[in-house]
Amino acid sequence: MSDAASRSAPLLAGPLPPGSTLGILGGGQLGRMLALAAARLGFDVVILDPEENSPAGRVAARQIVAAYDDRWALKRLAEACDVITYEFENVPADTVAELTALGAVVSPGAKALAAAQDRVIEKSFLAEIGVPTVAFAAVKDADSLAAAVARIGAPSLLKTRREGYDGKGQAWIQRATDAEAAFETIGRQAAILEAPADFGRELSVIAARGRDGEIACYPLSDNHHEGGVLKRTVAPAKVTPATRDQAETIVIKILTALDYVGVIGVELFELAGGKLLVNEFAPRVHNTGHWTQDGCEVDQFEQHIRAVAGWPLGPTQPHAHVEMTNLLGADIEAWKKLAGEPETRLHLYGKGEARPGRKMGHVNRLRPLKD
Ligand SMILES: Nc1ncnc2c1ncn2[C@@H]1O[C@H](COP(=O)(O)OP(=O)(O)O)[C@@H](O)[C@H]1O
Ligand SMILES: [Mg+2]
Repeated sequence: MSDAASRSAPLLAGPLPPGSTLGILGGGQLGRMLALAAARLGFDVVILDPEENSPAGRVAARQIVAAYDDRWALKRLAEACDVITYEFENVPADTVAELTALGAVVSPGAKALAAAQDRVIEKSFLAEIGVPTVAFAAVKDADSLAAAVARIGAPSLLKTRREGYDGKGQAWIQRATDAEAAFETIGRQAAILEAPADFGRELSVIAARGRDGEIACYPLSDNHHEGGVLKRTVAPAKVTPATRDQAETIVIKILTALDYVGVIGVELFELAGGKLLVNEFAPRVHNTGHWTQDGCEVDQFEQHIRAVAGWPLGPTQPHAHVEMTNLLGADIEAWKKLAGEPETRLHLYGKGEARPGRKMGHVNRLRPLKD
């Protein structure tokens, strides 16, 4: 969307009173946990998702079952809702433009969505605002691939510009001669070639910006992936005050430059000397922030609802040390044992089929903060 269009985007007149209606694009587990948090604050939630009986739809006041580009459905959603948000960043930009044209307030806004949807736009934006990332180059065909490999070198990581998640749409190039094969693996789609980050740890910072520009950051978390998918988060991460300052400076720059409203998740690589690089950011609540549900005074879901509803942000202080583990696929079968563990909080998403790797739920294991 052009700057002129985003300037004329509708605004909330003031904090939304309880009883107002909140729309969520997407009916997965993030939408479900947002809907539960919204309900607790007295809001009604309408979910838009193409699939019937979505995890979020089943806990919301209403679900509109329709495609994201169904104009009639978007009109109904815009009419029903006082504010609209989304649980995933691949909502079509046209959907947000259409809702905005219908007079709906959509938060986070179109600029954040555009930056998060495309890895080249995302990293270019970060470079513009002085936030460090790995070196990168855009790839669209064999010639630009060869030029990118000549500039970035090998090993390097080729990723589709759009639609990648949980490590999908990525291929390592070990030697320059592997480049064509890697391009083939990702379906010869428009891509980004990234230099390898020589990181010791993957950290993330979850933060929120309210409608008045107030910013609140959660403590950093330490994240462990398996096969490109997040498996475990430990938080608050053991970090020096300097690392925490670095992360907060980064997230504040991003939130401010995007004139952001809502919760954001920023994935970081911690290099050997302590320098942080941004890997990517998600304009939504984030899997590495699930620990806040049982470890913080106000969790990321309530925080997001507060922000988009124009309420004051809540405190982000931790009151427990949390190890969050995703229940992927058949892991869910352990629910009975997990339910019997006194230090374990169970969060299940109400999904039917436990396909391999599917996010079925997560557990937060608590221990006292002082340990
Ligand atoms: N440039 C890189 N160098 C080294 N590892 C990387 C790089 N980019 C991504 N990774 C690894 O792959 C994982 C998934 O990549 P990411 O860009 O976060 O994609 P997704 O959108 O699938 O989460 C990261 O969490 C990290 O472990
Ligand atoms: Mg990621």
